[in-house]
Amino acid sequence: MYTFNCLNPISDKGLELFSTDYKKVETIGEADAVLVRSAAMHDIELGDKLSCVARAGAGVNNIPLDKCAEEGIVVFNTPGANANGVKELVFAGMLLASRDIVGGINWVLENKDDENIGKTAEKAKKAFAGTEIAGKKLGVIGLGAIGVKVANDANRLGMEVLGYDPYISVNAAWNLSRNVKHVTNVEDIYRECDFITVHVPLLDATKGMINKEAVQIMKKGVVILNFARDLLVDEKAVLDGIEAGKVRNYVTDFANPTVAGKKGVICTPHLGASTEEAEDNCAVMAVKEVMDYMENGNITHS
Ligand code: MLT
Repeated sequence: MYTFNCLNPISDKGLELFSTDYKKVETIGEADAVLVRSAAMHDIELGDKLSCVARAGAGVNNIPLDKCAEEGIVVFNTPGANANGVKELVFAGMLLASRDIVGGINWVLENKDDENIGKTAEKAKKAFAGTEIAGKKLGVIGLGAIGVKVANDANRLGMEVLGYDPYISVNAAWNLSRNVKHVTNVEDIYRECDFITVHVPLLDATKGMINKEAVQIMKKGVVILNFARDLLVDEKAVLDGIEAGKVRNYVTDFANPTVAGKKGVICTPHLGASTEEAEDNCAVMAVKEVMDYMENGNITHS
């Protein structure tokens, strides 16, 4: 009998895959495997029994990788499983920054009891006019599962797309996203793009990469999107950029006190992967990884 613990609720579609050889337990101390979404595991006692941790998501910065390596605990993630969900929210972010959808919705709510709402709407709509994303230049930093999807779909929507990823060759990147212009210097993206979106993991090399110097060379009116990890962006530098009229919007999926409710900030509480489909896909991949490891010793996506 194998045992597993869920540190976060994991979709039933994944849990149903566990055979009768698996039993859910209440504590990590009793578990052979732990399934986790975003809960931080750094201060948690791992227990002597634990053989693997499966992260139902792409990033593994909530898991103590060094401690797991020392104790021989295998760590899995689920690359690509939630990429479509995140990609769709990135487009919602771009559209929210370009069209005053929120202003329009609020106007309707405020005027819902006015029997002449249909007529006054004609006048009001001028105040909510926006711009289009077609014809604008999008810079995608990081061409992994999410970045490539964003790049390709942006291209289909008529955007001109520049892609940057120092970890893959220009040829490999070209094969992944053919209508994207690949640049080898991230500064080209900073200088040229109307929208810049980051899709890289949080590493020492990427922490704070969107900083004061980066903002300084960006185009006036740039929109910066961050659906990856909050610490990739020096939020103070971006807020200063908004104050100075350089940055039009900072669209972030991280509701930090530094940015929440601030001028020019469009902020959601890490909803990128919060779709039924993404949660199911991540859970299914994570459970399969655990079973394949526990029963066959196979290690995938570690
Ligand atoms: C990820 O790393 O894939 C996301 O943070 C997933 C999530 O929101 O759970």
